Amino acid sequence: MCGIVGYVGSKQAQSILLDGLKRLEYRGYDSAGLAMVTSDGMTVSKSVGKIKELEAVLGEEEIVSSHGIAHTRWATHGEPNEVNAHPHIDTNGDIALVHNGIIENYRTLKEYLAQTGCVFRTDTDTEILVHLIRSYYTGDLTEAVRIALTQVEGTYGIAVISTAHPNMIIAAKMGSPLVIGHGEDENFVASDVSAMLKHTNRVVYLEDGVIATVTSDSYDITTIDKVHISPQIQDINWSLDEIEKGGYDHFMLKEIHEQPTTLNNAIRGRLNFDEGNARLAGLNLHREELLNVDRVIITACGTSWHSGLIAKYLIEDLARISVEVEYASEFRYRSPIINEKTILIAISQSGETADTLAAMREAKQRGCTVLGVVNSVGSSIARGSDGGVFIHAGPEIGVASTKAFTSQVMVLTLIATLLGRMRQVSVQRGQELIQKIEEIPSQVAKILANDETIKKIADIYYNADNFLYLGRGINFPVALEGALKLKEISYIHAEGYPAAEMKHGPIALIDDKMPVVVIALKDPVYDKVMSNIAEVRARSGQVIAIATEGDTEIAERVNHVIYIPETDRLLTPLLSVIPLQLLSYYIAVKRGCHIDQPRNLAKSVTVE
Ligand code: F6R
Repeated sequence: MCGIVGYVGSKQAQSILLDGLKRLEYRGYDSAGLAMVTSDGMTVSKSVGKIKELEAVLGEEEIVSSHGIAHTRWATHGEPNEVNAHPHIDTNGDIALVHNGIIENYRTLKEYLAQTGCVFRTDTDTEILVHLIRSYYTGDLTEAVRIALTQVEGTYGIAVISTAHPNMIIAAKMGSPLVIGHGEDENFVASDVSAMLKHTNRVVYLEDGVIATVTSDSYDITTIDKVHISPQIQDINWSLDEIEKGGYDHFMLKEIHEQPTTLNNAIRGRLNFDEGNARLAGLNLHREELLNVDRVIITACGTSWHSGLIAKYLIEDLARISVEVEYASEFRYRSPIINEKTILIAISQSGETADTLAAMREAKQRGCTVLGVVNSVGSSIARGSDGGVFIHAGPEIGVASTKAFTSQVMVLTLIATLLGRMRQVSVQRGQELIQKIEEIPSQVAKILANDETIKKIADIYYNADNFLYLGRGINFPVALEGALKLKEISYIHAEGYPAAEMKHGPIALIDDKMPVVVIALKDPVYDKVMSNIAEVRARSGQVIAIATEGDTEIAERVNHVIYIPETDRLLTPLLSVIPLQLLSYYIAVKRGCHIDQPRNLAKSVTVE
């Protein structure tokens, strides 16, 4: 969603803020702006579109200031135009504010402020906040922000500056991520560490309900009730290289190609070959507690929800524990049945997805043990879970999730193995699985080396209006994921279906213009899937099959085949998804789409 950067120090703020914004562009990017305190007062610059448009507005000459805030916007209230772009300023133009989140009671606050003579310039919910702060300001900016926030309902990560306090940023958080970066005679505020990583890797993650007064050489953190909080400084071990493209045309391609490494990172130190088991210390649950579990609820959104669907097959197969997988946005608004034998697994790359966070909190309130399967170490979901497993995929910048998906599936496979070994999985079956798991990273590398085949298929079908993805069993969620990847980056309508379900409706869509991607691996349902393929071919549909190496029959029955190496049937999603990621990528490139920043999408969905 929206990205925030703030700087206070002795260097020129403009280039630091612009560089930070560029690194946050992936979060939300329909418009951008920055405000800086100068010797002439507050200067505000805004533009619609990418950061390079904002650079053009600012021109060649840098504004002299070492104190400012900046923002990339993903519109919620009010269309993406210059007026609605942040920062917003109070009527006198002395206080400027950037905000990520939604002020839910903004209408009531707006009516109240209008009665006091406030004039509103924008259609945003955010603008009321800067007027509200102004209305409480009597010389102490932190206090004015604090009182204003007691009136607010909703979610926010904010940064506020004022011409009356030329060495100070006030930051506050409720439901939207915010981090302080600790530098030498300079400090930063941002919604994501990548915005400040060039300058410092020492950060303090803010908790919900706190206000921080940040100057160039200090930061003071209190709760909204004025209770002092001791900051916990954490060292981020990401390098700058990891958030740069490293010679690839797009972050998405780089991240697809990183998967042999990221999968190795997900299993490093976690495979116990002798016992045929996984070592997962972070779960924070005793053996008895894990044995007590008789129901698992998995909650997540989007791609992470698809990895949850795969985990259902894994956990039910290996541990014989019943698993429900639910969209976080639905889970939080029903009345879920939870008891002391239920655990909830929240899956999230960013660890900040508003719906997943709320679902997790709802479950916790009902006394449920919550485990997180998360990528971002300092994120709200990671911090709020009772235990969990980090996927260690490193920063994922491309909006379309790729490496995080495979790492999530890998970690969930380890969790399923652990639960299974405590119950009915033999040492021998466990050892078989662990050995096959260890082979996965090099098998992924082998598929990636075959990307020319996939590129050629993309060249043939890139103009299609619709795609169908079919899979069965544990590869049905992979069909859903393939369809999601294609639609989000190429804007081609695509649907994923269980292969046999096709004849109950979608078959009506099939004609010679319809490419149908079928995951047809040598597994117990192979013959059934071949029948489904025959049904598509009989109606002139164009079949692209993902098949197992060594399958000599399939090539004659389909239009194109992409082979993947053989593995255990439970591990096949880790391989079958790779060609689907590449296919979407090459189709989107051919269509000239914005791969890393597809229209209307944001990387981290921090609003409901
Ligand atoms: C799709 C995609 C999204 C995310 C979803 C959840 O490529 O990236 O569907 O998977 O927004 O995000 P996280 O995993 O950060 O909770």
